[in-house]
Amino acid sequence: MVKIVQSFTTVASMSEITDWDELRETPSKFIDEICGIEPFDYQKEFIDADARHRVVASGRQVGKSRMCSWIALHEAVTNAFTQVLITAPSLRQSSMLFSTLTSEIEQSGLADEEWGIERDTQTIIEFDNGSSIHCLPTGRNGNKIRGFSADMIIVDEAAFIEDNIYEDILEPMIFATTGRLVLASTPWGKSGYYYRKFAGSEHNQEWDSLQVSSYVNPLIEESDLEEYKEGKTDSQIKREVMGEFVEDSAQFFPTSIIRPCMPGAKPKQEGDYASLGVDIAGEGDDRTVFYGVDGKGNVFLHDEVYEDMGVLEAAEYIKTLDRAYNFNKIQVDRTAIGQGTIEALAKDPKINRKYEGVYFTQQTKQTIYQRLKAALEDDALHLPQDETLRTELERIGYEKQQSGRLKLFPRGSNEKDDHVDSLALAVWGMPDFGQDAHKGRGAKTSVSGSVQPKVDRNRRPKRQTRHRNSSQLANNTRRSVGEPNSTRRRR
Ligand SMILES: Nc1ncnc2c1ncn2[C@@H]1O[C@H](COP(=O)(O)OP(=O)(O)O)[C@@H](O)[C@H]1O
Ligand SMILES: [Mg+2]
Repeated sequence: MVKIVQSFTTVASMSEITDWDELRETPSKFIDEICGIEPFDYQKEFIDADARHRVVASGRQVGKSRMCSWIALHEAVTNAFTQVLITAPSLRQSSMLFSTLTSEIEQSGLADEEWGIERDTQTIIEFDNGSSIHCLPTGRNGNKIRGFSADMIIVDEAAFIEDNIYEDILEPMIFATTGRLVLASTPWGKSGYYYRKFAGSEHNQEWDSLQVSSYVNPLIEESDLEEYKEGKTDSQIKREVMGEFVEDSAQFFPTSIIRPCMPGAKPKQEGDYASLGVDIAGEGDDRTVFYGVDGKGNVFLHDEVYEDMGVLEAAEYIKTLDRAYNFNKIQVDRTAIGQGTIEALAKDPKINRKYEGVYFTQQTKQTIYQRLKAALEDDALHLPQDETLRTELERIGYEKQQSGRLKLFPRGSNEKDDHVDSLALAVWGMPDFGQDAHKGRGAKTSVSGSVQPKVDRNRRPKRQTRHRNSSQLANNTRRSVGEPNSTRRRR
């Protein structure tokens, strides 16, 4: 069992510390004595490893992000004039790493002065020994961190960073300083820089590696993991729970069919036919997205993206957009919305006539996505040159399940698909196009009419909650002692 000790009193004050050399040599001791939290055994192995570079591949929730912040704090505090960079693909991820870092400091029970903190901004912590920790996203092309120089680079979600960012930006940063690299991630496909470093570590003295499953974290309930695994494909479970690399899953919308549909000029509405698609933010999602397409495939409405828009507010906004564009068809993702919103839309007779509520089951998603794919293949759409849309389209992966159905999902960590969902819904309401025309789908057939009857409305699952486990352990952070059930360490 896990023992949790509230232990402010056991934390040594920096000035009382006499065994600095030992703390410098053994990061886990530093974390224990200064941060007041005992790393689990597998964490100790990783953070104390003495190879120049380190790489960890694991399931979710084993404490990778915390290890990143520990390693950064240890490096900066015990070595003067040391620049540490912590990075991750997105701003959201790097901001979360920064808050992990600051809460580590707060929870230590030591004052900022005792830590020697001179300056603390949203992204930088500077210490009076001349060291600093910078916490920045790589951004899509690495621009956010270009030109930096670092003694240590710590990369979280390392599997989701493009090779050219490692090769052109991160590696040159440490060449000049003979610096060190720490890569942490849930694994992805068997390709890319992160995978190569992991796979190559076995024969490379410079690298140490660790591979563990989510089951090793003694604070995680096995039943939570079992619940998390429900509805996931075998590959997802291997990656996200077992921490294993699996072959890359295939891209559902090939880049070769997306590019011709993004010729450059901004699509303008032509003719008087218009269809609206709305992806409503549900639990775990944070954006409500509206897409509009006309009868000729011009996607004239695309930058209507709202964070924190309530479902009733969304219903009102649908009416506002309808007054502006007078849509013929309106498809709304009703997976996450309550009966109240449906009624709010149904009560408006004008909306009710053309409104279609769509549940995103695996089957409906497949049907709707296939129609979008057919439209792209037929070159029947003129998409705006929207980077978010393009990336989301390219990131949709698919895996065939035993039932033969396709499971469609955004590949990557924290990747989203709300632009694609919204576009697919808009395209669902388009009249027939190209080679698809003879199939008689499209505006004349409703989504619910063609797909839903097989599914019992009351038993229909809610849209999956993403990252179900992500915050439940947040409070159990002080001096926990636990024996991991299983650890697999390579090398
Ligand atoms: N040694 C530890 N003692 C107590 N809690 C820990 C320890 N290591 C990690 N945790 C907690 O486990 C949870 C998962 O950690 P996190 O670093 O977010 O995992 P990952 O990045 O691998 O998904 C967090 O709530 C974190 O505070
Ligand atoms: Mg993490």
